[in-house]
Amino acid sequence: LASTEVDISKIQPGQAIKTIWRKQPVFVRNLTPQEIQAANATPTSSLRDPQSLAERTKPGKQNWLITLGVCTHLGCVPLGTGEGENRGAFGGYFCPCHGSHYDTAGRIRQGPAPLNLVVPEYEFTSPTVVTIG
Ligand code: FES
Repeated sequence: LASTEVDISKIQPGQAIKTIWRKQPVFVRNLTPQEIQAANATPTSSLRDPQSLAERTKPGKQNWLITLGVCTHLGCVPLGTGEGENRGAFGGYFCPCHGSHYDTAGRIRQGPAPLNLVVPEYEFTSPTVVTIG
């Protein structure tokens, strides 16, 4: 099945990009140390969809958060990749359709969405290229 190669070399810490894979938006984000710390400081037992940042990223690459850009409520595209876009109350992504707030691990923290943003299959095929799918 179709996979997509993404050049991540220009994505600075704190930045995110939106790409397309199988006609769906995918967010690729380079987390800052503070964002990683915020995600790891949250007890998973307190989460609606309990998952750690480590479970949602690759070993040694915890700063690369790769998720579908599809809100798990009714499928809108959350904000948070563009410069200055609203990242919501938990600093990750914000879905303006009905107000779902995702944290810096892309986990649902507030609002109607039932589940975390989905992490697709992907691998690092070089230090600067991620292949999704
Ligand atoms: Fe995102 Fe409803 S579709 S909050």
